Amino acid sequence: MSTLRAWIAATVAAVALGLGAGWSPAVNAADDGVDRHGMENDMPVPSDEASLENGKDRYQARCSYCHRPDGRGGSSSVCLACQKYKWGSKSSSIYATIAAGRPLTKMGAFATSLSQEEIMNIIGYIRYLQEWKIKDDLAAASTSK
Ligand code: HEC
Repeated sequence: MSTLRAWIAATVAAVALGLGAGWSPAVNAADDGVDRHGMENDMPVPSDEASLENGKDRYQARCSYCHRPDGRGGSSSVCLACQKYKWGSKSSSIYATIAAGRPLTKMGAFATSLSQEEIMNIIGYIRYLQEWKIKDDLAAASTSK
């Protein structure tokens, strides 16, 4: 129930922000049957409107040119909106990736140029990008039937 409430809060915030055209609250995380194994938040991730807005702003300024504005690839070839991650997609793993970078790759460390709060807000925005992709995938599946 608390998960559902958090999701509704995130959705309301996303709609209020106009983050994704056509985002439908009717697609419900609790009953759409979609596996969200790659979205486990072992560290609490903010989902209020102000945090999401800041996360979106920071993501678009610092990450989108390698991961695309929608998080689905780009020059990094890494789909952050997907749930399959090489270095782990729990919130604590994503935090470690962003803060310390991944040595010998183009994924740099952001611990000195982003605050802890900004990193958590970006993770909240990545969760939003994942929900957005789930919604697009559900829509694509229903039109191909
Ligand atoms: C200069 C390009 C570049 C920028 C800027 C960049 N990344 Fe990356 N990122 C990469 C590459 C390349 C990888 C793949 C590293 C590897 O080979 O494992 C990666 C990997 C990741 C991963 C791990 C994915 C996985 O499969 O485990 C996360 C999470 C991530 N980036 C988030 C971010 C966030 C958030 C930002 C902005 C704060 C950001 N990146 C900025 C290039 C970039």
